Amino acid sequence: MRTKNNGELRISNVGEVVTLVGWCSKKRDLGGLVFIDLRDRWGITQIVVNPTNEYYNVAVDVKNEYVLKATGKVVERESKNKNIPTGEVEVIVEKLEILSSAEVTPMIIADNTDALEDTRMKYRYLDLRRPQMQYNMKLRHKAAMSIRNYFDALDFIEVETPVFGKSTPEGARDFLVPSRVHKGEFYALPQSPQLYKQLLMVAGFERYFQIVKCFRDEDLRADRQLEFTQVDLEMSFVDEPDVQALVEGLLKKVWKDCLNIDIATPFMHMKWTDAMNNYGSDKPDTRFEMLLSDISDWALTTECGFFKSAIENGGNVKCIVAKDAANKYSRKEIDRLTLLAKKYHAGGLAWLKYENGVLNGSVAKFVSDENKDNLVAKLGLNNNDLVLIVADKLANCNQSLGALRLQLGRELDLIDNDKFNFLWVVDWPLFEYNEEEGRYEAAHHPFTSPKDGDEDKLLTDPANCYAKAYDIVLNGYELGGGSIRIHNQEIQSKMFKAIGLTDEDASVKFGYFVNALKYGTPPHGGLAIGFDRLVMLLTKNNNLREVIAFPKAASAKCPMSGAPTEVTDAQLAELGIKVDK
Ligand code: AMO
Repeated sequence: MRTKNNGELRISNVGEVVTLVGWCSKKRDLGGLVFIDLRDRWGITQIVVNPTNEYYNVAVDVKNEYVLKATGKVVERESKNKNIPTGEVEVIVEKLEILSSAEVTPMIIADNTDALEDTRMKYRYLDLRRPQMQYNMKLRHKAAMSIRNYFDALDFIEVETPVFGKSTPEGARDFLVPSRVHKGEFYALPQSPQLYKQLLMVAGFERYFQIVKCFRDEDLRADRQLEFTQVDLEMSFVDEPDVQALVEGLLKKVWKDCLNIDIATPFMHMKWTDAMNNYGSDKPDTRFEMLLSDISDWALTTECGFFKSAIENGGNVKCIVAKDAANKYSRKEIDRLTLLAKKYHAGGLAWLKYENGVLNGSVAKFVSDENKDNLVAKLGLNNNDLVLIVADKLANCNQSLGALRLQLGRELDLIDNDKFNFLWVVDWPLFEYNEEEGRYEAAHHPFTSPKDGDEDKLLTDPANCYAKAYDIVLNGYELGGGSIRIHNQEIQSKMFKAIGLTDEDASVKFGYFVNALKYGTPPHGGLAIGFDRLVMLLTKNNNLREVIAFPKAASAKCPMSGAPTEVTDAQLAELGIKVDK
């Protein structure tokens, strides 16, 4: 239908007769002339209709979002628009056709829209017409292409794995699909292709990748959707550095192809223990400092009862220092921070301000002058510094101060949003203790290999077993995670035992998989990157919904289609399902 798109006309096209199509993004009547901004995927071109033109009345009828076809001559504009690439020219319309009319849209189709999230989601097809959303989706495509080209060049092959699988409730909750043929039996949608990709290594593929949908029945968050996409990969005959180097090369290429930014490799490595102790997070945002300090030794020298009792109960006293911020936080403001600390399991929040050579605050009365000086020296305090202190179990100190650190980083504008700080978090604990169930569970998944030398401790000292696991972290987000896997069936069955699975349980849940390990399994490992998160960070957004075409709202609903919805009794009867409301 068209001879040119709306993003391509330049001064060099002046004199050409062109046919354009697109949506009316804006119409103005000026002194009898009608100006229309015609928009398509590639941009905006101004078209002009003269009152003497036989199609003038058509132009008068045009409203926003009408779909038009216009033929006319390209001319140089008198008043040029420097904001758009086609701004030096306009098209003087000779023929104008309305291909489709449009009702008044429930939201403005422009980058600056004041539409509420709900409206954007309900009329997603209109929201996606906005240039910003088109950019996001184009960048998503570009990233996917870049990834596929990278893997292809390195001899990886993309293999599709099933969407209907077996339910193995570990990790998140499964989405279940009832079988009509086998009543009372269910398929589970994959939380990830983990077992299949390992089986592909047993099958001898050596280098697998897949851009694949995964499904987890979790509460939604800004960085979590029920269905999301992973860049999943697995390799044989590798150890941790091989997988990490491959992923670094991948991210380097994606950043170059998509943003023309050269990111420096290799990425920094940080042990999980150091990440927790220094940043209070397993996904530290390293774009700013404000590290956590352990001041337990100092706290013991004070008269503060709750410091001492925390330490006597095996806990710690830790703090962060917000530099030059004491005057920015009134008591009321500190009360607000206390609520945040409590949300992250701190018993309370103590504070001190160093102002005009004096240390004052909630615990000052329990500290002698000499001890105050000791703290000032230990923390290197300067005038107007604010010290926030938590006395609790180590994990609670870390978690709450980690959350406060991020909050203060944002409030005090310490985060450079132009930075991309990539980081490997390595040497994870192999197990986590589940207090409710009184047992250890796999911190990643039960196929993660212990560190060399820790195999013998699996059953005797699980708390001190570490994993050949690594997470790739970017600007405080967990971008991806992976590990070297267990390829030896004896270690695999020990691992199952360590997490409280009997041989029988393991065989019911993972029998087919454990069986496969008996037939010649190469050493192997891999990783999965959250593709939606990757695109979210590439486009500097903070919600996955900005980079997914048709996402779910926070309520786990699709406001556009209404899914999930009830189904008919006949459908339920066919599946042998009764709904208990
Ligand atoms: P993991 O569970 O860490 O590892 O998932 C890998 C990455 O997927 C992304 N992700 C999500 N993104 C959006 N919404 C969600 N609900 C969601 N859940 C996870 C994250 C995460 O880092 N099979 C292993 C990988 C492996 O060991 O190779 C796995 O799935 O960015």
